[in-house]
Amino acid sequence: MLEGKKILLGVCGSIAAYKSALLVRLLIKAGCEVQVVLTAPAKTFVTPLTLATLSKNPVLSKFEKDDQGQWENHVELGLWADLLVIAPASANTISKMAHGLCDNLLTAVYLSAKCPIMLAPAMDLDMYRHPATRKNLETLQSFGHLVLEAEHGELASGLVGEGRMAEPEAIFEKIESLLSKKKRFEGKQVLITAGPTFEKIDPVRFIGNHSSGKMGLALAHNMAAEGAEVKLIAGPGQYNIESDLISLIRISSADEMFAQVDSHYSTADIAIFAAAVADYKPAVQAKEKIKKSDQTMTIELVKNKDIAAEMGKRKRKDQINIGFALETEKEEQFAKEKMSKKNFDLIVLNSLNDNGAGFSVDTNKITIFSVDQPPRPFELKSKSKVAADIVNCIHEKIHS
Ligand code: CTP
Repeated sequence: MLEGKKILLGVCGSIAAYKSALLVRLLIKAGCEVQVVLTAPAKTFVTPLTLATLSKNPVLSKFEKDDQGQWENHVELGLWADLLVIAPASANTISKMAHGLCDNLLTAVYLSAKCPIMLAPAMDLDMYRHPATRKNLETLQSFGHLVLEAEHGELASGLVGEGRMAEPEAIFEKIESLLSKKKRFEGKQVLITAGPTFEKIDPVRFIGNHSSGKMGLALAHNMAAEGAEVKLIAGPGQYNIESDLISLIRISSADEMFAQVDSHYSTADIAIFAAAVADYKPAVQAKEKIKKSDQTMTIELVKNKDIAAEMGKRKRKDQINIGFALETEKEEQFAKEKMSKKNFDLIVLNSLNDNGAGFSVDTNKITIFSVDQPPRPFELKSKSKVAADIVNCIHEKIHS
């Protein structure tokens, strides 16, 4: 199943590095081409000679090729791979990956890689439990990376707890299932709106909201991992795009978002309206900065177009529309009303009454309503896992 697959294996400094030799052996036996990249501390745990012999390839660890006056092309390596596996992934490398630091060949390859990324952390239990490490791992999951959580057991420190790297056989199985997985949305065009919109008052002020766009971004990565071509039409925010199947279209106001959705909707098979679009905009946008004068000030607001409702009117039988609802009261009733008013096939309800759900946080707790199915409540999860649940429901809907 893995015959001919190109695997880039990153190995960090951890006692678990000896297990990466076994992983290389399994991959080579399965017919993969394996290129190992070692960090400098990794060499104290496993020798380059062992990994070079097993992988049948020279092991790389520096930017420059020894004595040849040439550099190791990390961009090429990142593009070459079908999968980048970092096993063991140390706390240090995980932190660098989460923050985009790039001070060695492995992190440079990581930042250049366009392929799916899998990591198997290994560290002592307190490091693994530390909020900084947990946050970094959540960040990496929100980029769409697959994290194989460390296992419980005796650690090199003598302590017992979570921190042991997953066994090479388990990592190998995950690689097999990832690379041989049928891509369920191959050939599908998906349009996703995400983030807030900013409605200008004058050249320096605007009306906006706290949406971070993380949910829409996680949906885009999940859809792209399933083979879909995604147009992500996103309001102000930070969007770290990890797949070349995603085209990011930046907009600022609701009118600009409308214009982009308007021109791309007819070619979309699936449209997901995850943006927190401002319902109103200032009736007049002042050309110059408004000077303060009286004790009070009134800004007249006019309604923005409802993008999802407009597209709902145009929806063809072969298209499906998914909306979001954020409610603080009568959640189920309001969500269902929105679903019918905007002609959604599915609506994802997040309630601000749930801790950990809503804007800016990395987690979300949702219930999915469908026009013809009972409601599906889900546990509190990372936004990337929530996105996977939504994508599964969309798949079921299409095939129901
Ligand atoms: N939506 C949209 N365009 C708008 C307003 C909302 O596309 N101008 C979409 C959102 O992306 C979301 C859904 O409609 O998928 C519901 O958004 P929400 O703001 O909860 O609903 P509203 O219709 O604005 O209702 P209200 O603010 O009164 O709750």
